[in-house]
Order: sequence, then structure tokens, then C-alpha cells
Amino acid sequence: MSHLPSDRPPTEGPRPLIFSEFEELEQFLGTIFPTSSAGRYGLDYPTMIHPGNRAWLWVCTDEEHIVAHAGMQVVQLACGPMDLVLGNIGAVATADQYRGLGLSSSILTALRREAVRAGIDLLLLWSEKFDFYHRLGYHPAGTELLYQIRPPVYAQKPIGWRSPEPIDREPLLELYHRHDLGVRRDLSRMNLLLNIPETTVRCCGPLGAPIAYIVADKGADLLDHIHEWGGDPEAIASCTTYLAFAQQRMLTLHAPSSSTAALPCFESRFGPPVAHPLALVHLVDPVGLCARILHTMGTLLDPSQPI
Ligand SMILES: CC(C)(COP(=O)(O)OP(=O)(O)OC[C@H]1O[C@@H](n2cnc3c(N)ncnc32)[C@H](O)[C@@H]1OP(=O)(O)O)[C@@H](O)C(=O)NCCC(=O)NCCS
Repeated sequence: MSHLPSDRPPTEGPRPLIFSEFEELEQFLGTIFPTSSAGRYGLDYPTMIHPGNRAWLWVCTDEEHIVAHAGMQVVQLACGPMDLVLGNIGAVATADQYRGLGLSSSILTALRREAVRAGIDLLLLWSEKFDFYHRLGYHPAGTELLYQIRPPVYAQKPIGWRSPEPIDREPLLELYHRHDLGVRRDLSRMNLLLNIPETTVRCCGPLGAPIAYIVADKGADLLDHIHEWGGDPEAIASCTTYLAFAQQRMLTLHAPSSSTAALPCFESRFGPPVAHPLALVHLVDPVGLCARILHTMGTLLDPSQPI
């Protein structure tokens, strides 16, 4: 761990990003994380790292240069009969020579404080740094199953296979919303996410009414990973196998354990999965959230009550 010399001015912040700092932020994040387009980290995370989300991009600076950052995007999570307001945390980073000074912890604490004010139910992030986040009140939650797909010697092209792009996104959005658990999206959000550089989108089925789609390589973090899919499980599995065959590469398909309708099919086609925690979660207001869950359950048991 390195500390700053004592004659250096203390860092400033945490505070929200100002408009003129956006370009510097992208460059700063590009020096810490892999990106699919050099120096343009925002292209990989277009729904979080963009100027319109500045209120949720918090930084610490030293001599007016960004030295630490953590971001959040606020989304609605459709969770069966109820919606949760979720703060999705990401791009947590501190410049090498400023690590161990408490900067990331202070930004994450500030974001949590703002989340309380904004009525956010839970904060969620994906990270291997369990110990670091545990100290800040994050706990592993949910289970994600990872299926490995080796490129087969031969695979039949699925009927109505569409490649390459453009693929009409509206029917894909309809397939996406069939998941019981998922972030609510509109078409513009769907377009932003599927336009991330290097993203591979494939679908099959009748033109204009696909029965399944898969999305691989969504940003540098998800190269060779299929992290999004929708539609008929057999057709999803066939698209995945054919993509592995056509591009002769190993793919990893992610499925939350809540996808009970698809899991038996994935297991029979790809073999047993490896289980991982789905995310690290921090409940902003556990008591309030429990009360809402109980209320929703009570309403479900009493059909005379509107939800
Ligand atoms: C992880 C990271 C953001 C921490 O930033 P930071 O500003 O140094 O963090 P803080 O100073 O607030 O906290 C540092 C403390 O966490 C601990 N810590 C840092 N990384 C840790 C890890 N992986 N596991 C456990 N503890 C960790 C440090 O030892 C230190 O503990 P101490 O205060 O008892 O000495 C920084 O190391 C970084 O930018 N890493 C590269 C990018 C990255 O991996 N980001 C997280 C992606 S989700």
C-alpha cells in the first residue's frame, strides 16, 4: 500500500462529477479497466458512464485531477409481483499511488448516503473483491450458473439464424421481458446496451418474430461470455452451440438460478454448471424492504386488495 508524501495537499471530495470532467473520467477509467475502444470506457458502460448520469458519478480529486471514482445507475428491478429500486454500482477505482487512503470507501459511503435520500432499496455490484466490499456492508446474494460450451466439430445452423447484424431489437426486447427477474428496459436502453463495441447479437426463428436470441461479448469484461439471452431454451442452446461452432471459440453462458424453465435444458445440452454468487448486495433499508415484501405477499393472499 502506498501513501502520499505528507507535504501533498489532501484530496478533495467525494463529490459528484462536473460536466467538464467527463472526458477525464473516461480516460482515468480507461487506464484502470480494460476497454473495447481505447480510452473510451463509457462506450463499454453506456448506461452508467455518460454525462446525463453525472449526479451518480462521484469522484475524489487531487490538484483538480480525478484520482478515485465510483459510479451508480438507478434502475427498476422487476422481481415477480414487485419492483425494487436498485442502485447498480460500478467503475470503482482509485489511481495506483492513492490506494489504501480510504478514497474508494469514502465515495461508496457517500453513494450509500445519497441512495438513502433517493429511496433506493438495494445497492448491487459484481466483483471478486469480496473482502473489500464486505467491510462496506455488501454480502453475496443469489446464485448464477455458468455453463462452458466448447466449440463442437459440427453444429446444425438453427432455423432462421440471423447473422450478422442488423437485427431488429424490438422483438428481442419482448423476449427479454419474459424473464421473471430482470431490469426493466425500454428500446433506447436496449439499443444502447446492444450497441456496445464488439457485441455479438444472434437470433433465430421467423423474420420479425424470433423465438430466441443470445448476446455475447458485451464490453471488454464479457468477451466470450453470453450474459444475456431470451426466448425458447432449446433454441437459445442451439444458437449458443452454433455460435461456438461457427466462430470456433469457447463460450460461457450465464444463467441466474431463478431461470428454472431454462436450466434443465442448459444442463442436458452443456453438462453441469459451476455455481457463483450472482452479485454482492447491500440492503439500504432492510426493515422498510421487509415491510414492503410482507405487504406485497399479504396483498397477493388477499385478492380484494390492489397491488
Ligand atoms: C479496490 C480499489 C478500488 C480500492 O481502492 P482504495 O481507494 O485503495 O480503497 P480504500 O483505501 O477505501 O480501502 C482500502 C482498504 O481496503 C483494502 N482492500 C483493497 N483491496 C482489497 C481486496 N481486494 N480485498 C480486501 N481488502 C482490500 C485495503 O487493504 C485497505 O485496507 P486498510 O484500510 O485496512 O488498509 C482499488 O484497489 C482499485 O482501484 N483497484 C483496481 C480496480 C478494481 O479492482 N476495482 C474494483 C472493481 S469492482
